[in-house]
Amino acid sequence: MSEPITVVVTGAAGQIAYSLLYQLAAGMVFGPNQPINLHLLDIPVMMKVLDGVVMELEDLALPLLKAIVPTADPAVAFKDVAAAFLVGSMPRREGMERKDLLAANVEIFKVQGEALNKYARKDVKVLVVGNPANTNALICSHYAPSIPKQNFTAMTRLDQNRAQAAVASRLNVQVDKVKNVIIWGNHSSTQYPDTAHATVTLEGSTKSVPTEINNEDWLNNIFVEIIQKRGAAVIAARKMSSAMSAAKAAGDHMRDWWVGTKPGEWISMGVLSDGSYGIPKDIVFSFPVTVENGQYKIVQVNFSS
Ligand code: NAI
Repeated sequence: MSEPITVVVTGAAGQIAYSLLYQLAAGMVFGPNQPINLHLLDIPVMMKVLDGVVMELEDLALPLLKAIVPTADPAVAFKDVAAAFLVGSMPRREGMERKDLLAANVEIFKVQGEALNKYARKDVKVLVVGNPANTNALICSHYAPSIPKQNFTAMTRLDQNRAQAAVASRLNVQVDKVKNVIIWGNHSSTQYPDTAHATVTLEGSTKSVPTEINNEDWLNNIFVEIIQKRGAAVIAARKMSSAMSAAKAAGDHMRDWWVGTKPGEWISMGVLSDGSYGIPKDIVFSFPVTVENGQYKIVQVNFSS
């Protein structure tokens, strides 16, 4: 058994964290042989709720979970962390304009960036889930200059998982038969889910998704809109935003970044643009990537083929 690593989850009293923490404690993200210390950050008014989350974590009776530290202090939360799930952010409330939301989040991600800079491991892997995730990741990295900018990523894996599931359902196959759907852009309604290079395994052989679906209107319009508006559809039905699926996607993102992607498989991650595909440098944008030895690489898809 290895030495424990320390993992922080912010927004730890919220609904995404509630599903995410079990995955972390059960070894579903960092592996069944990796013990962890969990640092749980939330705001002072949520400390009582967080106490309940701690009780439930204890009651899971999971041997990989070595220590649990609930706190409202970023200096404690980010101490020695090897992986950070930045889930907590300011939600948009009625009457609030986007610029108000942005201002509130700049403050949160400035404080957390500074705490990462000061207290976290220099090789910490940071996944920003809290919206606007891509902007928050950029802000956070700006305030953590001692940590490589490549270590800050934003989550579009939920969109990828949704897209993969929608294609699988259309083709009436299991979801794991569909690969390499790409999410371009941001986790927002302007994202572009792209199946141009996606494949499906049918009766043991690999086929092109566009060829098998054979319906351009569905692929270019209906499917794109379903994925762009899926989050809103969940809110309309549940009266709360996606949480179980968002937590699963956060676990998938971090696991693949930590352990590596399977041969021939791409995943989508919001990462710092290196100028690939003509996207301006130094903004956080979702690209297809592969991961080896803990380092991701943007896949250079050939659009002429
Ligand atoms: P929630 O409202 O249930 O929980 C958020 C938690 O964050 C609350 O406990 C709150 O007290 C805490 N929080 C607020 N400010 C904080 C701070 N400065 N430090 C630490 N904790 C703080 O929200 P939920 O459903 O868990 O969603 C969290 C975020 O994830 C939201 O911004 C949501 O929009 C985003 N999201 C992102 C997705 C993606 O695909 N990137 C998908 C779904 C949600």
